[in-house]
Amino acid sequence: MAQARKKMKLLGGMMTVNFFIYIVVEVARSGGQGKGGQDKVIVPAEKFWKKQAASQAYWNREQQRLDFIYNPILSSDNASASGLPDWLNQTADRDSCDPDLSVSTRVKDYNSLPPRFKDFLLYMRCRSYPMVVDQPHVCRDPPFLLLAVKSLAPHFDRRQAIRESWGRAGKLANRTVATVFLLGNATATDHFPDLSAMLRHENQMHRDLLQWDYRDTFFNLTAKEVLFLDWLHHRCPGARFVFKGDDDVFVNTHRILDFLAGLPPAKARDLFVGDVITNAGPHRDKRLKYFIPESLYVGPYPPYAGEGGFLYSGDLALRLRNVSARVPLYPIDDVYTGMCLRKLGLAPEKHKGFRTFDIEEKYRNNACAYKSLMLVHSRTPQEMIKIWTWLSNPDLNCQ
Ligand SMILES: *[C@@H]1O[C@H](CO)[C@@H](O)[C@H](O)[C@H]1NC(C)=O
Ligand SMILES: *[C@@H]1O[C@H](CO)[C@@H](O)[C@H](O)[C@H]1NC(C)=O
Ligand SMILES: *[C@@H]1O[C@H](CO)[C@@H](O)[C@H](O)[C@H]1NC(C)=O
Ligand SMILES: *[C@@H]1O[C@H](CO)[C@@H](O)[C@H](O)[C@H]1NC(C)=O
Ligand SMILES: *[C@@H]1O[C@H](CO)[C@@H](O)[C@H](O)[C@H]1NC(C)=O
Ligand SMILES: *[C@@H]1O[C@H](CO)[C@@H](O)[C@H](O)[C@H]1NC(C)=O
Repeated sequence: MAQARKKMKLLGGMMTVNFFIYIVVEVARSGGQGKGGQDKVIVPAEKFWKKQAASQAYWNREQQRLDFIYNPILSSDNASASGLPDWLNQTADRDSCDPDLSVSTRVKDYNSLPPRFKDFLLYMRCRSYPMVVDQPHVCRDPPFLLLAVKSLAPHFDRRQAIRESWGRAGKLANRTVATVFLLGNATATDHFPDLSAMLRHENQMHRDLLQWDYRDTFFNLTAKEVLFLDWLHHRCPGARFVFKGDDDVFVNTHRILDFLAGLPPAKARDLFVGDVITNAGPHRDKRLKYFIPESLYVGPYPPYAGEGGFLYSGDLALRLRNVSARVPLYPIDDVYTGMCLRKLGLAPEKHKGFRTFDIEEKYRNNACAYKSLMLVHSRTPQEMIKIWTWLSNPDLNCQ
């Protein structure tokens, strides 16, 4: 008797539970319908993949070509390798450094583009220029922090101020810091005076110049980036962290070392911080420095760390060097670095210590304003030395 009553109770309980499940399911179903019939399985009417069509913009088309060449599935498949789409099969060498004359027909409005674009396009595939000044031993003692400063031959005073302030090589906070200056050739083509004898002298004194033989122009800064990463791979693969920046910024090296010391190891490996710009795209106004014609590039920019400088791990620098072979050169170097990061599946991280648009005027002469910053743009050589003296004073008291 008791047995039977227990059974009935159990049955009743189960039915109640079933009933509640039924209600929950029904409510969920009608809820789904209310939001636009999401309970229906959507079957695509057409194929949901399609053959890739050639982009109208030259850079994008070059990217499609490199994606195809470096695609392990497509390139291992005999059939598709021999059947490269016409627009991908170009006879020009992949990394040729001869002027690529075919761009005049392959870029829609080539003839009406400003000369700097013609120069860029002709040499867009060239990624290696002869190195004329090297420092094979600068990383014999692998640095904790390598400072790589983009400079231009005539900027002697900026380089000297950096050596005497934030870029002083040696030990700082018990860490090894090494500094190199990245130079192209300030050529007669661009009306530079011949400074080669002075550079030779400077290099004998300091042994910190790296120079390659190519025209040092704004649009060739991407070449400088690629050449530097290559150099790092060969000469300084043991650098733990790299700061790469311009020669008109003030860098608070103390603060950077502090920040790096406090970094969890898991975070250190993929570190890439700077003043990050998101949701940007090419400027289409011909009068702007950053103008990019539609015949060259379409689409938004990936997040990138803006001009001035950024800080990243040596490990990531070596991965960037590898992946850069798969990204066509782009005329704006910081956007290019953002493109390479994206190819690695990474994004730069914004750090508020990077002030590429300077700090408020009223704080510029306040030593304490610089204490927690990593980078300020821009500063003259004299300002660099002045601020560095403030920050290096052990009596500096900022509460
Ligand atoms: C590719 O070609 C090689 C030799 O030409 C052949 O042995 C191999 O089976 C081919 N692979 C495919 C996927 O067709
Ligand atoms: C590329 O085009 C050239 C000339 O048009 C042709 O000889 C060659 O076989 C093509 N290569 C491939 C991989 O399709
Ligand atoms: C400085 O660094 C070395 C090795 O990196 C370490 O052995 C030494 O203890 C450190 N000195 C101080 C004062 O932290
Ligand atoms: C730089 O370019 C000039 C031509 O303008 C050339 O004479 C010189 O050899 C080049 N110097 C270096 C270091 O590449
Ligand atoms: C980049 O450098 C190469 C080699 O010196 C030169 O031919 C080319 O015109 C330069 N490109 C730009 C955009 O200045
Ligand atoms: C870069 O590529 C080289 C050669 O393919 C490889 O040996 C190396 O491990 C790669 N480096 C990184 C950091 O991925």
